Amino acid sequence: MFQPVKIAPSILSANFMNLEADIDRIAKAGAGYVHVDVMDGHFVPNLTMGVPLLKQLSKATDVPMDVHLMISNPLVQIPWFIAAGADIITFHAEAVTEEEMVEAVRLIHEAGVKAAVSVKPKTPVEVLRPVIADVDMVLVMSVEPGFSGQSYIEGSDVKVAQVVAMAREAGNEPLIQVDGGIGVKTAPLVAAAGADVLVCGNAVFAAEDPAAALRAVEDAANEARLAALAKQGA
Ligand code: DX5
Ligand code: ZN
Repeated sequence: MFQPVKIAPSILSANFMNLEADIDRIAKAGAGYVHVDVMDGHFVPNLTMGVPLLKQLSKATDVPMDVHLMISNPLVQIPWFIAAGADIITFHAEAVTEEEMVEAVRLIHEAGVKAAVSVKPKTPVEVLRPVIADVDMVLVMSVEPGFSGQSYIEGSDVKVAQVVAMAREAGNEPLIQVDGGIGVKTAPLVAAAGADVLVCGNAVFAAEDPAAALRAVEDAANEARLAALAKQGA
């Protein structure tokens, strides 16, 4: 059955001097989530935002908070982000051992929050095996995490399809999210491959009209998704 894609604008590309107005804009345009990029200057070279900001953001809007943790110690910090109002928490497979991966998902679920795990472009999807049957979402990075405004790495759509197949085999249907360099040109590729949630930083917030840009990406993705479904005869 056709399920429209959801857009998760990344506020890393928003105007920090006027965040409330930017969030209002994307909420009115129908954003599915607010994507919050947390970088610790260690797992990735960049340093961005954290708990105090999430606390305020989650109170300021009804749009669910999709928290992308690009940090080295997710097990320590996950409880902080839960308390700050995260609705979905994504941690990186590269930051944890297999046992810690299972433990992180358990910790997030125990708090009634949705759990997601992410793989960087060079990480094979096989590493997801310990949790693929249990996660609510898998985030496929289509750029090296660390900075917004990078170009989509070709072939990321193939990885999306691999995750869909792997999850299905395990009897799970997690949302598949793609993050990095997604815009009107690249959204159709990943949507056709099975992506459900598209993160957009610059494609939305660097546009003159962020609401129109969001809808344009959404339309392009849904069109490709419909065409892919028709091809499969679904
Ligand atoms: C990259 C972040 C992304 C990034 C997306 O490490 O996880 O969410 O901000 O920005 P664009 O869409 O501009 O690539
Ligand atoms: Zn992100």
